[in-house]
Formats: sequence, C-alpha cells, structure tokens
Amino acid sequence: MEAYQVKRYGKNEKLHLSEIAKPVINDNEVLVEIHAASVNQIDAKIKSGEFKMVMPFKFPFTIGYDVAGIVTQVGAKVSKFKIGDEVYASCMGAFTEFIAIKENALALKPKNISMEEAASIPLVGLTAWQVLVEKGNLKKRQKVFIQAGSGGVGTIAIQLAKHLGAYVATTTSATNIDLVKSLGADLIIDYKTQDFETILKDYDLVLNSQDTKTLEKAIKILKPDGKAISISGPPDVDYAKEAGLNWLLKNVMRLLSFKIKKLAKKLHVHYSFLFMKPSGKHLDEITALIDAGIIRPVVDKVFSFTKTNDAMSYIEAGRAKGKVVIKVK
Ligand SMILES: NC(=O)c1ccc[n+]([C@@H]2O[C@H](COP(=O)([O-])OP(=O)(O)OC[C@H]3O[C@@H](n4cnc5c(N)ncnc54)[C@H](OP(=O)(O)O)[C@@H]3O)[C@@H](O)[C@H]2O)c1
Repeated sequence: MEAYQVKRYGKNEKLHLSEIAKPVINDNEVLVEIHAASVNQIDAKIKSGEFKMVMPFKFPFTIGYDVAGIVTQVGAKVSKFKIGDEVYASCMGAFTEFIAIKENALALKPKNISMEEAASIPLVGLTAWQVLVEKGNLKKRQKVFIQAGSGGVGTIAIQLAKHLGAYVATTTSATNIDLVKSLGADLIIDYKTQDFETILKDYDLVLNSQDTKTLEKAIKILKPDGKAISISGPPDVDYAKEAGLNWLLKNVMRLLSFKIKKLAKKLHVHYSFLFMKPSGKHLDEITALIDAGIIRPVVDKVFSFTKTNDAMSYIEAGRAKGKVVIKVK
C-alpha cells in the first residue's frame, strides 16, 4: 500500500510517497481502510523535527494524525467493533491506505456527515473536549477565551463551549468574523486591529493556541483561580510526567514553563499545558454531539491523496479556516 512518509527532518522537506506493508493487527486492534485523513499543525511540527526530543521516530515513518474509514479486520479481543463499521480516530500514521488502531482509541463515525468531514474531527475535537470539559471543567455562564476561533481547534472549541453554556470570546481576523459568529462566538476580537488584553477581563478559562507573548497577555485576563490551558506550549513538568518523559526532559520542561508558572502564581491563577490523548470514549461523546446537530465540522479544503504535500503546505501557511482534509479513497 502507499504511504506519505518523512525521510528526513526539515521545515521545507516534502513527504515521500512510499510502498509499505499493510499493517498486521494485534488482538486489541482494528484494521481500518482509510477513506479520508486530515492534516494538523502537529504533522508540520513532526516533519520539521520540532518534536524529535519527545517523539523519537525511526526514519522513514508515516505521518498524519486523523482518519475516517471502514473496519476491515478485528483483533481477537476486540468487542466494540465489527467488519464494515464506519469509524474515526486520532492515530499517528494516517496518510496511507490502511491503519491498525487500538480499539480504545476508535469510535463510530457520526452518521450524518461524510468521511471527509469525519476525518476533520478527531484531533481537534479531542483537544477541545480535553481542554474545556476534562481539564477546564467549563460550566454554564462561565467566560472562556478561545484564541484563533477560525482555526481547526477554534472552530470546534467555540461550538463545544457554547453547548456547555459558556460565554465565548474569540480572536480572528476580519475575513473570518462571519465564520466564528456562525459557530456561536459571543465576543469577537479582530486580532489585527484590537488588543484583547484591553477588552477582556475576569475570564474563568483561556484556551491558548498561540505564542508565548500571547499567553503572557492572556493569563492576565483571568479572574483569581481562573485557568489558562495552553496547547501550543510551553510544556510543563506535569505533562512530562504524564508522557513518561525522562528526568532530563522533565527538567527541561520545568525550565521552559518556569516564567509562565511564576506569572500565574503572582496573579493567583493556574497554568497548565495539554497534549491531546487519543480516546474512543471522548470521541463517542463528540459523535453524539455531531449526530444531534450541536457540533458541525468545518472543512476548508479537500485535497486528493496525490496532493498530500499541497495539503501540508496549505496547513503550514497557517491560514486554514477550519480543517484541511485528504481524500484517500
Ligand atoms: N497540544 C495539543 O494537543 C494540540 C492539539 C491541536 C493543536 N495544537 C496546536 O494549537 C495551535 C492551533 O492549531 P489549529 O489546528 O487550530 O491551527 P490552524 O487551524 O492551522 O490555525 C489557523 C487559523 O489560525 C488563525 N490565526 C493565525 N494567527 C492568529 C492570531 N495571532 N490570532 C488569532 N487567530 C490566528 C488563522 O486565521 P487568520 O487567517 O484570520 O489569521 C487561521 O484561521 C497549533 O500550534 C497546533 O500545533 C496543539
């Protein structure tokens, strides 16, 4: 089968189309024939080598983190899925034709959306769920600031936060104001002409997806005991422990997050870093919200499998409105 692989780290490196063996599944895995995959910023970061300390891969390796497809084989210990099920998941190695996925990372695909739309959901949906529900414990009438409302994470996070009953402020550029409004954002700040720090105050939660300078400003809009959860760094020592990283990396992360932790302490607020964890259970919750029409996928562009490198370039430019999808089958 064909797969798009990284053969060498580099920002400008292209993915190589290689012939690789079809995966052999373990007892707790399912073989999925991939119909669509989606592209995330993490794919670009892995390709550039930014994550090589925490995610050491052996060259060549297949990238891609989101799939939707059909179950073609189930392991002996798999009980939740059967051949023919339409499923989706976040799982590394998605830019190919077949993938072995652990049963507990997989969920049934929402019935009312296409394979391309389903592939757009897992990584950003799980991230939004784990920030807002699991770690952020966002409640009705609380105020949340979701940066980059027009991006992959932002488009889903706004809809989820509104479903939870929160008041949502977001940043976007003028061209995407109508999009974030249609997703339910209450307060929209044009980040090119306005400074959110002078507009927002007493927030319960911040979902930070931008640079450290933005994070340092965003933490100041929180009310005492409020939480800033960053998905774009800096990583902290709790994340290093959770990821099972070694002593050296734990200390590197302690250092990287030292300044923001100190600022958070001074302001009597909380800072933490979150890295999405694949979870079939959380995806089931998201499936139910999509089936009920509460959350809708936002797909900017669909590329054919042969144009996977173009899809990567599009994501790397950082202007996607929602998600970028690759039609595999
Ligand atoms: N830790 C995790 O588990 C995790 C999971 C998912 C994502 N992430 C990280 O989170 C970040 C965002 O991911 P994403 O998938 O949402 O990215 P994305 O879809 O590529 O984001 C693109 C969007 O960001 C907007 N944007 C760019 N600069 C902005 C700014 N300064 N302020 C507000 N909006 C801005 C752009 O809108 P305009 O064109 O209008 O500028 C565009 O619509 C990335 O760094 C990614 O690696 C981390």
